[in-house]
Amino acid sequence: MTLLLLLVVYALALAIGLARRGLTSVTKISVAPTGRPLTRILIIGASGGTGRQLLVRALEQGYVVRAFVRDPGKLSVEHPHLTVVRGDVLDYSAVEQAVRGQDAVISALGHKRFFVLTRILSEGTRNMLRAMETHGVRRFICETSLGIGDSVGRMGLYYSLLVIPFILPLYFWDKTRQERLIAASKLEWVIVRPAVLTNAVGRGVSHHGRKIGSFLWTARIARADVADFMLKQLASDSNLGTAVGVCR
Ligand SMILES: NC(=O)c1ccc[n+]([C@@H]2O[C@H](COP(=O)([O-])OP(=O)(O)OC[C@H]3O[C@@H](n4cnc5c(N)ncnc54)[C@H](OP(=O)(O)O)[C@@H]3O)[C@@H](O)[C@H]2O)c1
Repeated sequence: MTLLLLLVVYALALAIGLARRGLTSVTKISVAPTGRPLTRILIIGASGGTGRQLLVRALEQGYVVRAFVRDPGKLSVEHPHLTVVRGDVLDYSAVEQAVRGQDAVISALGHKRFFVLTRILSEGTRNMLRAMETHGVRRFICETSLGIGDSVGRMGLYYSLLVIPFILPLYFWDKTRQERLIAASKLEWVIVRPAVLTNAVGRGVSHHGRKIGSFLWTARIARADVADFMLKQLASDSNLGTAVGVCR
């Protein structure tokens, strides 16, 4: 009984920390009119689950895509509008070269080193932001997660009381750093916070906004739908400066 109580206290304390450290406010962003659509996009994490969906959908929608990956062998897509760049997000010069000449950057960066204190998300994002500011690439769409900032608890009880406190605390802590870096940048940014990801066929995002998900049930969304939603942020200014949740 005491142990259970301690676990709940720990989970609540972590939730308060993630709420306070993550983003809770909207940033006012002025959009620099370019007079042309954003057509050349860099996808970071293009070999991952969401990244591959982004890649395929972006090519289908007519974007000229540069895919940033650690291992080009993981990509099975070939297309005349696709170039693949090998690199690690922790290597600033590789990120800087990849960003140069692009109109926008979309990041679906993630990793599985959950039980190690890492800064891969935040340091990788810091490199992306610095490279973008250096080269005047203004629009940045970044996938983080429900469960931080003003979305704490919205992945449902199972994630809030078990998965996040016992598997993902270090990972989520780094996501709060990642979000704060983005919010502090001078870019036109949108943070997309999905619910639990699935590989189901896309059926469309039913709910998006700051108050979505569920405090009880596990909220889910297909990676395909997250990818579509992220791509839409290239042509829309309505979510600029916000961390917007998405779920089915
Ligand atoms: N899984 C969920 O239910 C869930 C829910 C909400 C939010 N999210 C978040 O959504 C995002 C995408 O998740 P996902 O499962 O679709 O992606 P994923 O399959 O984990 O893919 C992550 C991508 O990041 C790349 N990457 C990792 N470290 C890198 C580095 N140092 N340099 C360059 N690239 C690197 C990976 O490359 P390699 O292929 O080389 O490893 C991969 O392409 C993540 O931030 C995740 O935390 C996930």
